[in-house]
Amino acid sequence: MLETSELTVRFGGHVAVNAVSCAFAPGTLTAIVGPNGAGKTTYFNLISGQIKATAGSVSLDGQDISRLSAPLRTRAGLGRAFQLTNLFPQLSVVENVRLAVQARAGAGLDFFRIWSDRRDLLDRALHILETVSLLDKREARAASLPHGDQRKLEVAILMALDPKVYMFDEPTAGMSVDEVPVILNLIRRLKEDRSKIILLVEHKMDVVRELSDRIIVLHNGHLVADGEPETVIASPVVQQAYLGVNPEEEEAVA
Ligand SMILES: Nc1ncnc2c1ncn2[C@@H]1O[C@H](COP(=O)(O)OP(=O)(O)OP(=O)(O)O)[C@@H](O)[C@H]1O
Ligand SMILES: [Mg+2]
Repeated sequence: MLETSELTVRFGGHVAVNAVSCAFAPGTLTAIVGPNGAGKTTYFNLISGQIKATAGSVSLDGQDISRLSAPLRTRAGLGRAFQLTNLFPQLSVVENVRLAVQARAGAGLDFFRIWSDRRDLLDRALHILETVSLLDKREARAASLPHGDQRKLEVAILMALDPKVYMFDEPTAGMSVDEVPVILNLIRRLKEDRSKIILLVEHKMDVVRELSDRIIVLHNGHLVADGEPETVIASPVVQQAYLGVNPEEEEAVA
């Protein structure tokens, strides 16, 4: 279980995330929606430790992780896809994934078993690359891949880390129409593992409707709706945010 309790961050006079209390259970994909500037990415940053909360806490499996640095939260099981910043651009596709597999395997490597372990690690890396349809590009340099393939590689690295929580912030942004289904398929596959918590920030309502088990809505930093997709989508706050007023109008930074 991942839980935020009264999670808050203030930037100067602006409260970007305001006392958000919410729990996320394994086996559930929760979509986080809301207009531009609502605080979705900031909420992610608070959970993954990129920024420090002004107040409130984050806990994972009952353990308060609020004081942990971002890398330690990753080790605790929070997996966040960043817009390509997780990649080693000069390394090959397979090396990128193998390093993540190795990081996940951790300090358990003992010197005498290192070669056989390496085979295991490589096999696992190759298996993951197959899952994301990058096996045939395994020797390519990460930097040389088209954008869509880089995003797939990023998901592969995330899978290699085998996190308890997958966090995706607009995973299909900037992708061409034929690349979008590939990423959505990957997320769909991740859902099959019922032990994972998946958080998805997404503006495209058709994607949200199809993938999510639950939707929460952020608005001006507040959690304003939480429930089953059909109910939340039909609610006035979502109808207004997505079909009514121009969100930018209300969200000017102070
Ligand atoms: N580091 C920061 N310093 C100051 N203000 C910030 C910082 N990060 C975010 N903000 C502000 O906090 C608010 C929430 O931003 P955030 O990026 O979380 O919105 P969002 O819901 O992810 O929007 P979008 O849908 O456009 O990605 C905005 O008003 C933004 O300008
Ligand atoms: Mg955002």
